[in-house]
Amino acid sequence: MAHLHTYDALIVGAGGAGLRAALAAGKNVKTAVVSKLYPTRSHTGTAQGGMCAALANVEEDSWEWHAFDTVKGSDFLADQDAVDIMCREAVTSVHELERMGLPFNRTPQGKIDQRRFGGHTRDHGEAPVRRACYAADRTGHMILQTLYQQCNKEGVEFFNEFFVLDLIMVDGACAGIVAYEIATGQLHIFHAKSVLFATGGFGKMFKITSNAHTLTGDGPGVVYRNGLPLEDMEFFQFHPTGLYRLGILLSEAARGEGGILRNKDGERFMENYAPTIKDLAPRDMVSRAMFSEMKEGRGAGENNDHLLLDLTDVDPEVVEKKLPDITEFARTYLGVEPLEEGVPVVPTAHYAMGGIPTNVKAEVHRNAAGDIVPGFYAAGECACVSVHGANRLGTNSLLDIVVFGRRGGVEMTEYASTHPLLDIPDDVHRRAEEWIEALMEGDGGEPLADIREVLQNEMMDKASVVRSEDTLTDVHETIGKLRARYELTRVRDRSKIFNTELVEHIEFGFLLDMAEALVVSARARTESRGGHYRDDHELREDEHWLKHTYATKRDDGDPELTYRDVTLGRYTPVERKY
Ligand code: FUM
Repeated sequence: MAHLHTYDALIVGAGGAGLRAALAAGKNVKTAVVSKLYPTRSHTGTAQGGMCAALANVEEDSWEWHAFDTVKGSDFLADQDAVDIMCREAVTSVHELERMGLPFNRTPQGKIDQRRFGGHTRDHGEAPVRRACYAADRTGHMILQTLYQQCNKEGVEFFNEFFVLDLIMVDGACAGIVAYEIATGQLHIFHAKSVLFATGGFGKMFKITSNAHTLTGDGPGVVYRNGLPLEDMEFFQFHPTGLYRLGILLSEAARGEGGILRNKDGERFMENYAPTIKDLAPRDMVSRAMFSEMKEGRGAGENNDHLLLDLTDVDPEVVEKKLPDITEFARTYLGVEPLEEGVPVVPTAHYAMGGIPTNVKAEVHRNAAGDIVPGFYAAGECACVSVHGANRLGTNSLLDIVVFGRRGGVEMTEYASTHPLLDIPDDVHRRAEEWIEALMEGDGGEPLADIREVLQNEMMDKASVVRSEDTLTDVHETIGKLRARYELTRVRDRSKIFNTELVEHIEFGFLLDMAEALVVSARARTESRGGHYRDDHELREDEHWLKHTYATKRDDGDPELTYRDVTLGRYTPVERKY
């Protein structure tokens, strides 16, 4: 028995992309949001440093320079039509948020203030530019609160703590989802004319990550299990400044405001890797530089296993006004006083560049030819449009969610207004029901935590900042073994009320799928590009690899890979120098 709900537009995920889509749809058609979390606990709330837009409020700037930086930062894998749209629409998107009441930091003249971030330059790489609009180091939190208030104002309905389990497909079109209500253990059928996934990332496959526990790839996992592809899964971003051992993010804004990365000798090592923009080089380059420093024995601490973020030369008033949260994190979690000493940092798994493939209308691709799934949309980190290519620039993520969330919301409204609700069988929830019943039968088997720990350690050691055929083969074999162990485990807690063991069990299955798609895609890509660096194929190979990977789950479980050419534009791939 499942509860039935009917909507014109149904959005799964209540982070920035989901809420922006819901706001666009909710003004026009009957709209609901289904979310695993309470909306204001979504991971967008942890985004710190800013949202990018060439407002030119404090320095000369243009959206074309922003587009150039985004394409170059992506190591030329981004689709340039999508990048142009994002960078052009950035300016109106920021102004829209401002009008909704978002409390951006201001210049003395009252304009939205802007600061530096990695890879953002003026005039095609001449020097760093101040392009990131921000609300202290709580920009994502402010976006989330602002959009949630607006959605409530428009009458968007929310189903909070509902976990998506399955897609409802009718003759190749999407007609809704099946979800599990965490509070009661009931199944719900959400029958809808159009569905948008905005479920976020999947960084929890790595041991050190800035991602919350909930970021387990549920949306892409459901898509993948329904025979649809995932794009560019091999590209996972490591943010250079995660708190040592913990991975909690220390915003790149710290370096934008003058912070410097130093090795154990106090050397500003980024001068050797990116002489023009130094510490503000793109994240893939800085993370790799940090790995090199540690490998060559210049890491800090007894174990040579971290670097130091030095904020001691930054004006304490700037730290207090513009970086209050992250400095408090350093004090609370590491007992370090950032105004007086270096903060121990390591690269932390931060952002999935890959995900559910879409076009610029947020319509989901069914294959590498770019055919679409009618009625189905995706936006935000779970999607791959692709504006970030092989490496995302900081602050382009908050921009992406707002621009493509809005576009998705507009498109799904249009679709829902011109298409009927498709007929669905009464028992569309049966597959999910049988799945849950099977998980609750028999012995518990070994603790899931043991299996998860192996996955996170192996992915960190063998598929993170530096990879090779040998390490990827190893971790691929491990994933196969972990899957066999996972399939023998069962949920011990048989209750229906807030069965978090069941939720975690299902989440881990999605994580395994994500890890497998990542590793298989990475093994096949015999080059280095952006966040995918192979020490057995150190060069970028544009003749062969200027293309996007599409991984589709075969019946035997392993992914099958196909490819789609990158959409080029004004910018011809050249060697990346900073
Ligand atoms: O460093 C940061 O504040 C993160 C920003 C981002 O990932 O866009």
